[in-house]
Amino acid sequence: MNILILGSGGREHAFTHKLVQSTKVNQVFVAPGNAGTNKIATNIPINPTDFSAIKSAVINQNINMVVVGPEAPLVEGVHDFFLNDEDLKLIPVIGPKKDGALLEGSKDFSKEFMIKHGIPTAQYKSFTNQTLAAGKSFLETLNPPYVLKADGLAAGKGVLILDSLQEAKSELEEMLSNQKFGAASSTVVIEEFLKGIELSVFVLTDGKNYKILPSAKDYKRIGEGDKGLNTGGMGAISPVPFADEDFLSKVEERVVKPTVIGLQKDNIDYRGFIFIGLMNVNGDPFVIEYNVRMGDPETEVVLPRIESDLLDLFEGVANQTLNEKEFSVTQQTATTVMLVSGGYPESYEKGKEISGFENIESSIVFHAGTKAENDSVVTSGGRVMAITSFGNSIEEALSKSYENIEKIHFEKMNYRKDIGFDLV
Ligand code: AMP
Ligand code: GLY
Repeated sequence: MNILILGSGGREHAFTHKLVQSTKVNQVFVAPGNAGTNKIATNIPINPTDFSAIKSAVINQNINMVVVGPEAPLVEGVHDFFLNDEDLKLIPVIGPKKDGALLEGSKDFSKEFMIKHGIPTAQYKSFTNQTLAAGKSFLETLNPPYVLKADGLAAGKGVLILDSLQEAKSELEEMLSNQKFGAASSTVVIEEFLKGIELSVFVLTDGKNYKILPSAKDYKRIGEGDKGLNTGGMGAISPVPFADEDFLSKVEERVVKPTVIGLQKDNIDYRGFIFIGLMNVNGDPFVIEYNVRMGDPETEVVLPRIESDLLDLFEGVANQTLNEKEFSVTQQTATTVMLVSGGYPESYEKGKEISGFENIESSIVFHAGTKAENDSVVTSGGRVMAITSFGNSIEEALSKSYENIEKIHFEKMNYRKDIGFDLV
């Protein structure tokens, strides 16, 4: 089979790395990909939300399946586009249609879904500019800190956690009346603050059956000790030690099953990944958010731990035979450390030559923001490379990643030296 992967990050390099190992795969294409994906597959320079360019690529390259990395093409309806096109309708797309993608595309929709299907989550209410006064009154009934969430996609910046009531009220007004996050904040979810420790659980579903993939924890802040600005993710670990069998069985019974059954009850034919952001509150799981794709950099630790053929699993998703598929995961721990451009997540320079990564053997180097230029590889984004290693413990895996990072160089390279600090 020929596969087209949409996206260009470390997540998409991890998908590519796993899919080229499948005996069922003939060729893999990545749109637009990065310098790492182009080494093991073929990049096609098109934007993942340019559906007509995707159609041409699918036809020209005889693509048999499309795997969607990021959320934007899903929320914009790439799967629906395929189903509505005579030439494309039989080509499976791994990723939900627009209706399912609302689980990520609208916080209000996802909260309503959770409450309707009895899935544990923080108490909440939604407000618009017309109900601003009621929103302010609702804030008065809550205890600090206050959690405000822009309803729509806001590039990971749409959640505010505020300590003072005054600040919460004025930020609510900024979001609703002054469009702080544009149209994304024309509805705002205000919710109860959950105190606990976060982790993510990933599910692959064909709409009827599901496989629970390895759990992971990511490190979102730029600074050590989880300080400073939020990033896309600076590192990740899988499995999560505190997500023991007892906790994960609560996640399956209270969250995964009602989510998959809820989608069916609501007539949402969902085929793809569900990324469940959870808070462990004294041993009980609460859903913070759903994403309709895999996480980045979580994918760089989750996929390497899966021993089964990923294409075989994807065929199960497409044909609704996921229950018949073999699925196994290594007991080993995987860790990844993200190398970023100096200045990220604020402004940073691109085009810095990267050296020392080519001969690394005891870790997997997943490219993120890289591109090939002449005979070298240069930086082309804030998050540049994720260095993934295995070990019998978090410490053992991390020490390999950090040892190999010593060999890699680009001007103003930055990374967190404390990934997993709260777990070891
Ligand atoms: P989200 O985009 O919904 O994942 O929110 C971003 C981050 O805000 C999460 O990863 C949590 O760290 C935090 N957060 C969101 N909702 C809550 C909540 N109800 N209680 C505590 N922290 C939250
Ligand atoms: N690492 C968080 C995300 O992919 O949303």
